[in-house]
Amino acid sequence: GILLDTTCKSRFSFGAGNKQILQISVAHGPMNLIFIPGPRPEDVLRRYHELTGKMAMPPRWALGLQQCRYSYYPEHELLAVAQNFRDRNIPCDVLYLDIHYMDGYKGFTVDKSRFPDLAATTKKLLDAGLRVVPIQDPGIKAECGYLPFDDGKKDEVFVKYPDGEDWIAGVWPGDCVFPDFTSEKGRAWWSALSARWVEETGVSGLWNDMNEPAVWGQDVPDMLEFNLESRGGSHAEAHNVYGQLMASASRRGLMLAKPGERPFVLTRAGFAGIHRYAAVWSGDNVANEEHMFLGIRLVLSMAMSGVSFSGPDVGGFVGDAGKNLFMRWVSVASFFPIFRLHSMIDSRDNEPWSYGELAEAIAGNYIRLRYKLLPMLYSAMAVSSQSGLPVLQPFFWSRPSLEFEPVFQHLFFFCQNLLIIPSASDQHAVWAGLPEGNFYHLFTGQCFTGNQNLWIASPVDTLPVLVKAGSILLTQSVGTCTEDSGAGGIVLHIFYGEGKANLTFHTDDGISLHPEAGDIEQWEI
Ligand code: NOJ
Repeated sequence: GILLDTTCKSRFSFGAGNKQILQISVAHGPMNLIFIPGPRPEDVLRRYHELTGKMAMPPRWALGLQQCRYSYYPEHELLAVAQNFRDRNIPCDVLYLDIHYMDGYKGFTVDKSRFPDLAATTKKLLDAGLRVVPIQDPGIKAECGYLPFDDGKKDEVFVKYPDGEDWIAGVWPGDCVFPDFTSEKGRAWWSALSARWVEETGVSGLWNDMNEPAVWGQDVPDMLEFNLESRGGSHAEAHNVYGQLMASASRRGLMLAKPGERPFVLTRAGFAGIHRYAAVWSGDNVANEEHMFLGIRLVLSMAMSGVSFSGPDVGGFVGDAGKNLFMRWVSVASFFPIFRLHSMIDSRDNEPWSYGELAEAIAGNYIRLRYKLLPMLYSAMAVSSQSGLPVLQPFFWSRPSLEFEPVFQHLFFFCQNLLIIPSASDQHAVWAGLPEGNFYHLFTGQCFTGNQNLWIASPVDTLPVLVKAGSILLTQSVGTCTEDSGAGGIVLHIFYGEGKANLTFHTDDGISLHPEAGDIEQWEI
């Protein structure tokens, strides 16, 4: 592993132009390269986490299904989505509010004509086991009389040009100024504002968007001045950590509002170490086959870069996936640590029931499977937060000497023992590689001999998922959300094989930042 320890603009070229050369360059400052020894990829990741810190354990509810749209409004539309999940018996834990909940897209406000009493709405949903997570953008509308602007001006927390003028750029609300998250003062200001707002509205987590920062029609000028922890510097050095530090300030805001509870922040931008503060989603993708596969590569690359907790917009943000692709995408993504459906304004809805009865039935099956396997996912997240071992592991980890077959880059292990074999939605069989050992098909029970490449049937309603012989799966009963799932305890499924099975089971109250020792159970099986 290599960690380039700089926040300055950097370039990586892996064999582009010349296949013999891996080229890394930085625009400014020293080039600190840290080489991390293996020999195994998991050794690299363990050491990487010793350098960058451990992933904080998320609340259990954040591992349930998350449903988003740009945007659910007014209130009755949001409540209708919630009701649909419950009426259709499809579990779900999180509903998102995208930018239309705000008054004129201004952060820390609510459009009262759309959500007359947001606190009452979030409470009603929470009582039904659904958490509300609203979007937060860093841009603060430059408008006198708007409290966050007046307040931030007074406290001098906004990013400036070298001549002392505020940097102003257009985003959703119009002309905006931007907090300097590279200063402790700026972060504390944002955390306090977020905490107050979270308390007032009763939302459960925060979704940080546009935090590269991204603005309309201009590149952020490199000359802008940033505090950089009192050292002082320019945007060229601050850019790569801007989103990361916004996420850390949002996280602190949640912790102030809900002391003792595990915060949940979802961010679009981050840097090495973002796993300490937030989960990361891919940003905008397109509803096509290629982007479904791209999302798989992305989540696996993130996992190999220390970010276990990530996922793409399932169903595709832009456009219309069509029934088969939607079914396939949901089935693959039910194994991603962040499992979040989203779609863009004017694009087709991506709720599990949006593509007709068959798609709803199949999507529902995989969503319920996700909840059934939650004890495994939760345990794998705990292991990941302790040792850095990612929840998803790319297939090549188990067959490092395999001759490179590009299609195999999409195969991955979920919680170590389940081999997920993604297949295009119009493909009825998929060419797959199996590692050493035997494998059982999770749904048909068919046994496959390992250490070979073969075709496996992949009808659109059945994603090939194989279980390693000699492993144990943990399942639980499925309720309407993570909180009411698991009544009746844990069931162990033993898949007979040679040798010894190895599994860590971890459980706790699912929400406390520091669960009481007596509430934690962790066994090695
Ligand atoms: C860009 C984000 O990537 C997307 O997910 C969101 O829906 C839009 N901004 C609108 O807030």
